[in-house]
Amino acid sequence: MDDLRDKYLTAIADAAGESALEDLRLAAVGKKGEISLKMRELGKMSPEERQVMGPKLNALKDEINSALAAKKQALSDAALDERLRTEWLDVTLPARPQRQGSIHPVSQVTEEVTAIFADMGFAVAEGPQVESDWHNFDALNIPGHHPARAEMDTFYMHRAEGDERPPHVLRTHTSPVQIRSMELSGAPLRVICPGRVYRADYDQTHTPMFHQVEGLAIDKDISMANLKWVLEEFVKAFFEVDEVELRFRASHFPFTEPSAEVDIRCSWEGGTLKVGEGDDWLEILGSGMVHPKVLMAGNIDPAAWQGFAFGVGIDRIAMLKYGIPDLRAFFDSDLRWLRHYGFAALDVPTIRGGLSR
Ligand code: DAH
Repeated sequence: MDDLRDKYLTAIADAAGESALEDLRLAAVGKKGEISLKMRELGKMSPEERQVMGPKLNALKDEINSALAAKKQALSDAALDERLRTEWLDVTLPARPQRQGSIHPVSQVTEEVTAIFADMGFAVAEGPQVESDWHNFDALNIPGHHPARAEMDTFYMHRAEGDERPPHVLRTHTSPVQIRSMELSGAPLRVICPGRVYRADYDQTHTPMFHQVEGLAIDKDISMANLKWVLEEFVKAFFEVDEVELRFRASHFPFTEPSAEVDIRCSWEGGTLKVGEGDDWLEILGSGMVHPKVLMAGNIDPAAWQGFAFGVGIDRIAMLKYGIPDLRAFFDSDLRWLRHYGFAALDVPTIRGGLSR
């Protein structure tokens, strides 16, 4: 037994790696290992012999098992040390320009829009993307039978079998954040709500997920004139031009009364868009005076307060401003596209420093 102990303890101490160690384990205490075979011989011994040899063999087996475990731990510690020694990283090295990421046009434009409205006193508000049917539709004066529900190609969430409540939806627009902001802060109110929205639609100008920014201003003497001024300031600042001409076209949205779609004067000469000149008109947003029912849904008294609201497609104005032809490419994560259309990570858009330069 002493020979066995010496033989295996030396071999374990010298084992070069985990597979050599496993071979040793099998040879010693595996099913057909030397020590296991010896234990089997116990049955043929006399009771006196067995009383002496049994405990000794068990002790030897334990000793070898612990030597194996200790060696296994030591080997894996050594492997980790070796990895730590070779896989180091100098975090004080400056970033290499060719490896820097870029800011996606959607993020860039969201920041630009936020900077412009922040300058006019609008705070940023947010709401959930999985929205209650009530916030997304009813509270915005879009009742169950309203065609706008069908038009919006809504994604519905799952409800458990037998649960009769209306299912939640992926919000189809940022307008429900109007309601949430009113519920949260009451009047007066001045917020913009940028974020993701969802509709089941896919072609060159539609993707199932896209981005909008909602605007909402509520106070005691708000009129269409305020809406018009704010939108003019926004369009000038956003397209970085001194003059723009807006055209308010009568329209219909359930949540505003009156409602207007807003076009900007532009030209497409030579295939590139110029804002503020030319004979074409480009639709860029929907807007209007907040419907009294919507104010009421947000617990605001329509006899005391009025407001205007508008909604803009972020992806759409990003395509227009930066000459990006296909919306789908926004969401392909193609590095070549991102390098071409992306923005430097450290150029934060500000009113004073310039939005896009
Ligand atoms: N929610 C509308 C849409 O997704 C956009 C919109 C239109 C928002 C008019 C408004 C508004 O706040 O006043 O098509």
